[in-house]
Amino acid sequence: MRLVSTTVFLPCLFFTLLPAASSQGQEPDEITPKDKLIIETVLRLQNFDLESSAPAKAAVMRYLRAEQGSDRYFELIQRFQPAEIAESLAQYSLANSSETGGVRGAELLFAMNKGGSLIATASSDNETKAQAAVQLIGHAAGEQTVSILLPLMQNDGATVAVRSAALKALGKRLAGQQQILKLVTAGDLADDLKFAAANALLGSTNSEIAATAAKYLELPATADSQPLPALSELVQRRGDVKAGLEVFQTAGTCNKCHKVRGKGKEVGPDLSEIGSKLSREAMYVSILDPSAAVSHNFETYSILTLDGLAVTGLLISETDESVTLRNSEGIDKTIEQEEIEIFKKQKTSLMPQDLQKLLTVDQLVNLVEYTLTLRKTGN
Ligand code: HEC
Repeated sequence: MRLVSTTVFLPCLFFTLLPAASSQGQEPDEITPKDKLIIETVLRLQNFDLESSAPAKAAVMRYLRAEQGSDRYFELIQRFQPAEIAESLAQYSLANSSETGGVRGAELLFAMNKGGSLIATASSDNETKAQAAVQLIGHAAGEQTVSILLPLMQNDGATVAVRSAALKALGKRLAGQQQILKLVTAGDLADDLKFAAANALLGSTNSEIAATAAKYLELPATADSQPLPALSELVQRRGDVKAGLEVFQTAGTCNKCHKVRGKGKEVGPDLSEIGSKLSREAMYVSILDPSAAVSHNFETYSILTLDGLAVTGLLISETDESVTLRNSEGIDKTIEQEEIEIFKKQKTSLMPQDLQKLLTVDQLVNLVEYTLTLRKTGN
């Protein structure tokens, strides 16, 4: 009954609103009360074809531009799937890839058959965006996930961080786990993916996959010669913050490279607010598999000079005359441009790849508990 009455009402509504709505065209991001009324109305109509009414479409598009990320925003896209929104929806999802809204946006894109820009971004040179796109694809592409991410995981041109993200996303699906396992058993999985692969496969809910993987992969050993527990298990544990601070400054050697609130050396990033940036799982990955998580602006470079000196470190400065790298002891070395034979970006982090060797599992858990307290508002 209601449907019939609104259908009759709607054309009159549009008719009366038409001039007002089009004069609003100058102010695209301002939603008027009339827009809201139109939107409430079209959402109530079943089978309403948005393309059949220019004013309704204009009101919806204004709303979508102004209210990005709101429940109504997603409801309108889901309902009318306007093709014009795909690009800005992709940008929204990429900017919010770790949040429900970002994933919801990606799901809508794939539902609209507009996942293409996320797929393209996953192979782009912007590592941060590429990683975000990979995560979104993993959440939203459904059965297509494997065919999209498997080639990317094996693409030598992509960074370890992006390939690891692809592996992690694949590892959440059984079909993905099977493909990873195939590469592992054939000896075709890149070494720098083995930590991520061990975590994905050894903890598989499929006992056959876990058992086969165990013949080929193991998690690295800790200081007490025990293999590390899988990430999925580590993130369940809770540690002691005070003991963790002690580990940071002693056994873990973290303060040799990281500053916290003014103390420590500055080779790697200042960790004073790291707990606001990283989740518990990301913290473990940053410590245990640093190359998979190279943070922006801290990429490692290496130089080979004409007389055979090799220097590896973070790029501190580069001028026409010289390049300065800071090595893992925090010492800056400046090399004249004319002395340089090879200057290239390294794929691996300057942070040691095997810090778990210095720590027992308990120490590691305490350390992570401590780093998670390093937050913006103080602890
Ligand atoms: C030899 C120097 C070195 C040591 C020792 C070291 N790190 Fe790092 N760390 C780095 C560098 C360089 C980076 C930045 C590049 C990267 O992310 O791999 C980094 C990055 C990180 C990050 C990610 C930061 C971000 O902003 O995403 C965390 C977390 C971290 N280290 C924690 C630790 C902890 C905890 C320890 C001690 C167990 C430690 N590091 C020991 C050099 C070091």
